[in-house]
Amino acid sequence: MKPALRVENVSKRYAIGANQAMVGDLPNITDSVRRFASGTLRKVRALLQPGRFADDANSFWAVKDASFEVNPGEAVALIGRNGAGKSTLLKVLSRITEPTQGRIEIRGRLGSLLEVGTGFHPELTGRENVYMNGSILGMSRREINAKFDQIVEFSEVGKFLDTPVKRYSSGMYVRLAFAVVAHLDPEILIVDEVLAVGDANFQKRCIDRMMDLARSGKTILFVSHNMQQIPRLCQRAVMLERGQVVEVGPAGDVVQHYMDQLLVDARTGDLRNKTRTGDGRAKFVRAGLVDNDGRPLTVFTTGDDLILHMDVEATTDLPDANILVAVQTLHGTRLISGWTDESHFPVTLTKGRQGYECRFKNVAIRPGNPIMVSLRIALENQTLLDFVENALVYDVVGDDRSRHLYTNTELGVIAYDTEWKGVKAAE
Ligand SMILES: Nc1ncnc2c1ncn2[C@@H]1O[C@H](COP(=O)(O)OP(=O)(O)OP(=O)(O)O)[C@@H](O)[C@H]1O
Ligand SMILES: [Mg+2]
Repeated sequence: MKPALRVENVSKRYAIGANQAMVGDLPNITDSVRRFASGTLRKVRALLQPGRFADDANSFWAVKDASFEVNPGEAVALIGRNGAGKSTLLKVLSRITEPTQGRIEIRGRLGSLLEVGTGFHPELTGRENVYMNGSILGMSRREINAKFDQIVEFSEVGKFLDTPVKRYSSGMYVRLAFAVVAHLDPEILIVDEVLAVGDANFQKRCIDRMMDLARSGKTILFVSHNMQQIPRLCQRAVMLERGQVVEVGPAGDVVQHYMDQLLVDARTGDLRNKTRTGDGRAKFVRAGLVDNDGRPLTVFTTGDDLILHMDVEATTDLPDANILVAVQTLHGTRLISGWTDESHFPVTLTKGRQGYECRFKNVAIRPGNPIMVSLRIALENQTLLDFVENALVYDVVGDDRSRHLYTNTELGVIAYDTEWKGVKAAE
């Protein structure tokens, strides 16, 4: 059987910073799209990291020598961190961009749903875009007519069909875009993680629809960061790391290896590959809990000083910066923060690497409640340089002093020494 999709030694080189303008260009969009778009900015940062395949200072390989195949009727997930090259690969497969090297083969009619902003023409109405996309897929007007009502029903944008899509909210846009690719009968469906923009109910309908399509023998290649979803939807997964294919195999196994790797990174404190926001002139490159002698810790012992060491790398001199360290529960509740501004500690960055220590005294977190640490560095005018949310995760344990404490989370996150005594009752 010949594969439906074949990616053969595909590489794609980009100029560094070429797509950096994106975020500011999107003034009045919802937060989800802003977050989505800021991914692009994050990715630009990602390539300032060592280990990228840069063959000169101004370009780098977003995808390097990638090869894999997807068989007809198979559903395959593409996974990897931010900036790994997933969307780039999908764009090459959708012929939105040419590979710098290598080749692709596609057997069958291909429909793709890529990042918000591709696929639809902004000036055309929803209705016109449906017809345009159908004809790109090689369908006749009559064929599109036959599917039209289904598409409109699925997308729930009926009232706005004759409005140019540039006036659509991000949610409407994605709903219509998905409805089009999922109903215009492509034999091969390529879906980037745009679905994350929709609400939970819509996402579920999309996944259900993709499962139906998979069952009816369509070939699907999709990107997702939702690791629970992947094994339900796909037989196999392909893992990308810094543009390279590092694993191809059964979806459950690849997802497991990917998650193991994420956890290892969360514990080793290397922050260079983390998802982040900020303009990147300064970045947290390492951080971790240490003991009183500066030795790295793997768990936090309640009652101790919580001491965090962090290394910041600046691309230029930046006087008047400030650092915020926030410690929170796994549910995201902020427990404590340390802020250099509040402590009147000056942060004067010079080009290169510098280290800082933040010490919280006698932190009494009830054992059994893991903690996460987020790191933020900004300038005095609050220009964000780098923000790494949930950069580190630590288990909290007890020792001799705290052995008596129960670990039930219902008893609260903070554990205080309590003293009890009997007193005279009111008359
Ligand atoms: N048009 C472009 N010009 C220059 N660099 C680009 C362009 N598009 C993507 N890149 C860069 O290529 C790398 C791979 O980006 P890509 O969008 O493929 O990653 P991704 O795996 O989809 O990440 P995410 O999970 O954040 O969506 C990133 O470093 C990104 O900044
Ligand atoms: Mg992407």
